[in-house]
Amino acid sequence: MEQDVNAIAVVTLFPELVMAVSSGGVTGRAIDKGIVALSTFNPRDYATDRHRTVDDRPYGGGPGMVMQPGPLVAAIDGAAEANRSITSCDPLVVYMSPQGRQLNHQLVIELTEKRNLVLVAGRYEGIDERVVNTRIDLEVSIGDFVLSGGELAAMVLADALVRQLPGVLGHESSAEQDSFAVDGLLDCPHYTRPELFNGQVVPPVLLSGDHAAIADWRRMQSLGRTKQRRPELLNEVRLTRKDQQLLALYTNEDGSKEPEPK
Ligand code: ADE
Repeated sequence: MEQDVNAIAVVTLFPELVMAVSSGGVTGRAIDKGIVALSTFNPRDYATDRHRTVDDRPYGGGPGMVMQPGPLVAAIDGAAEANRSITSCDPLVVYMSPQGRQLNHQLVIELTEKRNLVLVAGRYEGIDERVVNTRIDLEVSIGDFVLSGGELAAMVLADALVRQLPGVLGHESSAEQDSFAVDGLLDCPHYTRPELFNGQVVPPVLLSGDHAAIADWRRMQSLGRTKQRRPELLNEVRLTRKDQQLLALYTNEDGSKEPEPK
């Protein structure tokens, strides 16, 4: 079946870093299959002076350098236009920054709808605010910490997004089983051969061939782990009666029983 390509362009001073995701793994395969078109646009190529300057000292003083608006805007516009010619879609321009909306599964899914994505990776102290005002549709953070540049953040976003596109994963259903994809719960544990490893056995239910019992066990593990590790996520989930029963049955690794829900 014909599938529309998702074009992701990263605006970066370090294109080789970003293109590393294209050389293998899930993202590399998606590119090879023609599901994703990944490209980079370097502001330095749009600098107009002899030294190809892309940054300068901050007005008002202070440490570090700020990316200048001219080359950056030109690179963003170049990226948006190139993606438009591939997808016939308008761009969504995303600035990777610690000040942005926190990336989560919900936002990843929202962004899979945008077939023309331009991800802007800043360096130094940041980018001139007038670029944000005139070109950026959305700021996205991958967590409450500061990276040396937006490249790794853009790669994180691209990887998480690409694996959600139809036809990318070997098993169509794999992404649907991911943590957070099932009702916003954490994933259940997984086991493979051998049955006995370092004195630890595989939970017998997984060897039983009883598909209903296996599904219940996995659901119970997802619910139990979420409650133990990320209780705040459970507040967002509507638990069925059966979920509540499974949760009450959940026993954690050290054998202690979960307290009954209040
Ligand atoms: N650039 C620097 N730090 C970042 C973060 N935490 N998220 C996204 N982009 C960033």
